[in-house]
Amino acid sequence: MRSPILDYLDAIIAQTAHVVSGAPADYIPELASADPDRVAVAICTVNGTVYASGDADDLFSIQSMSKPFAYALAIEDRGIDDILDRVGVEPSGEAFNELSLDPETGRPRNPMINAGAIAVHALVDDREAPAVDRLLGLFSDLTQRPIEVDEGLAASELATGDRNLGLAYLLHASGRLARDPASSVEGYVRQCSASVTVRDLALMAATLANGGVQPNTDKKLFSRRTTRHLLSVMASCGMYDAAGDWLTSVGIPAKSGVAGGIIGVLPGQVGVAVFSPRLDQHGNSARGVVMMEKLSEDLGLHLM
Ligand code: DON
Repeated sequence: MRSPILDYLDAIIAQTAHVVSGAPADYIPELASADPDRVAVAICTVNGTVYASGDADDLFSIQSMSKPFAYALAIEDRGIDDILDRVGVEPSGEAFNELSLDPETGRPRNPMINAGAIAVHALVDDREAPAVDRLLGLFSDLTQRPIEVDEGLAASELATGDRNLGLAYLLHASGRLARDPASSVEGYVRQCSASVTVRDLALMAATLANGGVQPNTDKKLFSRRTTRHLLSVMASCGMYDAAGDWLTSVGIPAKSGVAGGIIGVLPGQVGVAVFSPRLDQHGNSARGVVMMEKLSEDLGLHLM
C-alpha cells in the first residue's frame, strides 16, 4: 500500500508550485543552464526509511551542503580544539562568498561560508588519499552508493572561480590556509561538484539526526560530540545571512547549496532534503525555503 507520507510530500510540491521567484545561480555557467523547474522533496527517518516525491532521482551538485560533512571529517581527523583554533563558529552576517575574517584572530568566521570551507578542505588529512577522495568516500558511506564528481560542472566552476581563488590567496597570505591556494580551491570545488539526489541528501541528514551513525549500515561516521558541534554550527551559520529568519521560521539546523538543495536535521527524528534551483537574494533555494517552512509547520519540526 502506498504510504500516506508520499501523498503528503506530493501535496507539499503541489502547494508550493506558485513559488517561482528568484533565479538559478549564474556565476557558475553550468548551473545557469540547468532546468529551473525541477523540484523534489525527501524525508528520512532515523531508522533509515526514505520517502521522496517529485524529481527525487534527479542528480544535482551538492555545493555548500558538502561543507558540514567536510567540517565533521576535519574534526574527526584533527580534533575540535585544533579546528576551532583555525576556523570560528560565529555567523558572519555577510554573503557566503565574502572573506569574513575575524579581525582579532584572523580566522574565517565559520566553516559554512566559502572562506571557512576552503580552509576546512585544506585541513582534511590527505596523507593516505587526496582530501576530495576521502570526502567522496564519506559521501558514499552516508548515501550507500558511489558518489562521483560532475567533472563538467567542476571544470565550469574552476574556469570562473577567481573569487574563491582570491579568498584562498588572502587566507594563505595571512597564514590561515594549510595547503597551497590553487590545489585547495580545486579540491574544494570538486567537493562541491559531487552529484547527489534528494534521497541521498535525506540519508546524509538522517545520519546527522542519528548522532553520526548511518541508520541502515550502522556505520559510525562521526562521534556524537562532533555531530552535536556540527549541528550547532549549522543552526547558527548554515543559512548564511538568513540564519536568523530561518531559525525563527523553520527552527532546525540546516545547510543550503547554490544548486538549489537544502538539508535540515531534526536531532533524534528525521533528516529532510528539498531541491528547487531558483535562489533568493541570500543564495538559498526560494521554493526550497517555502517547502521547508511547510514541512516544519505541518510536522512540528521546530525545535523551540
Ligand atoms: O564556492 C562556491 O561558490 C560554490 N561551490 C558553493 C557555494 C554555495 O553552495 C553557496 N550556497 N548557497
